[in-house]
Amino acid sequence: VKICNFGSLNIDHVYAVDNFVQPGETISSSLYRRFAGGKGCNQSIALAHAGACVYHAGKVGKDGVWLRDLLAGNGVDTSFVEVVEESTGHAVIQVNRDGENSIILHGGANRAVSTSDADRILGHFSPGDYLLVQNETSAVGAVIACASRRGLITVLNPAPMDSAVADYPLELVDYFILNKIEGKMMTGEQEPDSIMRSMLERYPGAATLLTLGKDGVIYGDSKTTEYVAAERVVPVDTTGAGDTFVGYFLASLMSGAEVRRALQIACRASAICVTRPGAAESIPKRHEVEAEENICSSSAGKLH
Ligand code: RIB
Repeated sequence: VKICNFGSLNIDHVYAVDNFVQPGETISSSLYRRFAGGKGCNQSIALAHAGACVYHAGKVGKDGVWLRDLLAGNGVDTSFVEVVEESTGHAVIQVNRDGENSIILHGGANRAVSTSDADRILGHFSPGDYLLVQNETSAVGAVIACASRRGLITVLNPAPMDSAVADYPLELVDYFILNKIEGKMMTGEQEPDSIMRSMLERYPGAATLLTLGKDGVIYGDSKTTEYVAAERVVPVDTTGAGDTFVGYFLASLMSGAEVRRALQIACRASAICVTRPGAAESIPKRHEVEAEENICSSSAGKLH
């Protein structure tokens, strides 16, 4: 089974700050670092680290060829990553003393993905393969529709959420992976249980995973519900934790793991991720996830 991840590739400019900048305020950062990122890039690397056969589809400018090379170096097939005239997408990320982040995105080359890319690239995949897409590229609706027509199992991580998501053919999605903010925006509900109920009513054929950060994750489909608690760690930088979860959950599912086991592995992987700075570079390898003691005794780097 293969997975095609139609996703963003970003250069992340990360600034360590005491507190997020407020309107009208100018603040200094104590540290600046440049990392590889983009939800698509991070999720492809997580999938590859977790052992999946992953193809990344996306676009970078000439300034982002190193991101394509990084994917390839991490075991991702980059045959469908194109270098275009636009500059590479980027993110300006503040990380505060609690490891929380605040992000401004510039789509750049990620917004050059087209319907014809979807038709051309997804023609290389077969029924039963997986399609993963987030909400940082253009043509997301067309990608979902094309994948569904071809019999692929479609997974949508509607992050970052915006009003465009409502216009996607959501009835064609097989798995939704959402955080609480995205769940609230999709359903209008406030509490996790109500969000899960509403998702099931709206999309009875789909499974929903609602990630709740340090409060764990809920999984629900028409037959079953599962809850897995998060591992307790001291966060350094939460950037990429959701992406790590997505990659590890799907790779485990593709390898035939039970849902509960896939959730446990994904929670463990994202717990390790938050103990390290950066996004793509902070995603653990499979052997680190399997070595339980690494979570507590990780020799994590520091951002602050
Ligand atoms: O999910 C984390 C990612 O969101 C960062 O790497 C940044 O590029 C933004 O896309």
